[in-house]
Amino acid sequence: MQFDSTDTPLAEIQTPCLAVPLAVASALDEQIAPRGYLRSALRHAKDEAGEVTCIAMPEGAGAEQLIAFGVGEVVTLKEVRKIGVAVGKAIKACEVTSATVAPPEVAGADLPRATRAFATSIASELYRFRAHKKEDREKPEFESLTVQSNEDISRTVALIEAFSVGQTFARELGNLPGNECTPDYLLSEAKRLSEAHDIQCSHMDESQMQARGMGAFLSVSRGSAREGRLIRLDYLGAGDPASPPIILVGKGITFDTGGISLKKPEAMDEMKFDMCGAAAVLGTLLAAVEAKLPLNVIAIAAAAENMPSGKASRPGDVVTAMSGTTIEILNTDAEGRLVLCDALSYARELRPRTVIDVATLTGACVVALGERASGLFTPDDALADALLEAGEFSGDRVWRLPVWEDYREQLKTPLADIANVGGSGAGAITAAAFLSTFTEGMSWAHLDIAGTAWKTGKEKGATGAGVGVLFEYLLAQA
Ligand code: BES
Ligand code: MN
Ligand code: ZN
Repeated sequence: MQFDSTDTPLAEIQTPCLAVPLAVASALDEQIAPRGYLRSALRHAKDEAGEVTCIAMPEGAGAEQLIAFGVGEVVTLKEVRKIGVAVGKAIKACEVTSATVAPPEVAGADLPRATRAFATSIASELYRFRAHKKEDREKPEFESLTVQSNEDISRTVALIEAFSVGQTFARELGNLPGNECTPDYLLSEAKRLSEAHDIQCSHMDESQMQARGMGAFLSVSRGSAREGRLIRLDYLGAGDPASPPIILVGKGITFDTGGISLKKPEAMDEMKFDMCGAAAVLGTLLAAVEAKLPLNVIAIAAAAENMPSGKASRPGDVVTAMSGTTIEILNTDAEGRLVLCDALSYARELRPRTVIDVATLTGACVVALGERASGLFTPDDALADALLEAGEFSGDRVWRLPVWEDYREQLKTPLADIANVGGSGAGAITAAAFLSTFTEGMSWAHLDIAGTAWKTGKEKGATGAGVGVLFEYLLAQA
């Protein structure tokens, strides 16, 4: 999808579909023949956020269809997004390939931010996963969204496009099934990005990981016929290549069967989404490149498949992580933390300014927060505040839970330095507490996107969760 801006007056814009605030639509009546047509068509329109009225325009008008959207009284960023979602759905229903939209006025909030919230919400609704369904593939693909404004919004539009490209990339990866989106496929996609942009791709295969002592990661990947990959993308946008990078680490389990601690069959298909953390960090890096942010950013995707097999880990196995820590694997379904701990140790060697990992890590996080917010875990209050704010501004919200050292008690075992599960209580926190033991001395945060990364049911599909909050965080750091 392409994004543009225009300052052409609304009545003169030639477009298959024009979306404007209801009050603006009413005012257009004066300028569009026949007079009274719009006023009459809009007489029952509701001026509330989330309401839309669609009108076929009279012959001769520049726009073929008009979407008049309600705005309501107090317009917060949250409502702007709600309006954007409704407008996006309405545009989708029009089955057009391009549209022009005029953002609602937002008192108090800054215009660029509100415009971004509006346009990215619309673009996100227009996304469709087309790879595997003829019916969807045959629908016209939406091509171009133009934002009308009297001000110069070129930078804002560039940021909208950058984010949308990154989020769409993450959703595409997420939606691909486990037989297509394998660790090698993730690597090939990372390589493709590095060929198309000014970024470097490198990776470690299993023998290289073996040489680095990554016994925790390998204990997971070993069970699969598909080799695990530690994938790395470097974007050096800061001007000074020696300036410490922000490192984003993503859980990339391309399918999580649970391993020998096999999952029950209900909804196991959804464990193809267990690589959404990796998708989020690759997508965020792509967005950062597209936006030319003046930062050094590294994305690391820990890509492996968690399968039961003759080579798979058994409950009770003890493995040694890259850090030297021995881990008793009490449950092979707690595999995310095993691939992540070695990826975090690897990140640590790169002397980062900050490390943020993103993972569909625990069912317990879904119990705690549902699908409304991702779990945020960090001992660093300043980093927590920055991520909470980035979550609010982007609408990709996070909510903080504690990672007090007390929780490490639950990970104690007489047979190794640490166990990979912490018993029945506080499952999302003990997972974070496990990771925290590998991040000593670093500025680190963990995002558990288990509840937010995909939707189930009729709208089943990846959401791109993580890209919003991380891109907003990077913007604030730039
Ligand atoms: N990928 C899952 C977590 C998950 C489950 C995400 C359901 C979204 C929906 C993870 O690898 C896992 O299996 N975690 C276990 C941990 C447990 C064994 C301590 C879980 O949450 O049940
Ligand atoms: Mn698992
Ligand atoms: Zn998993």
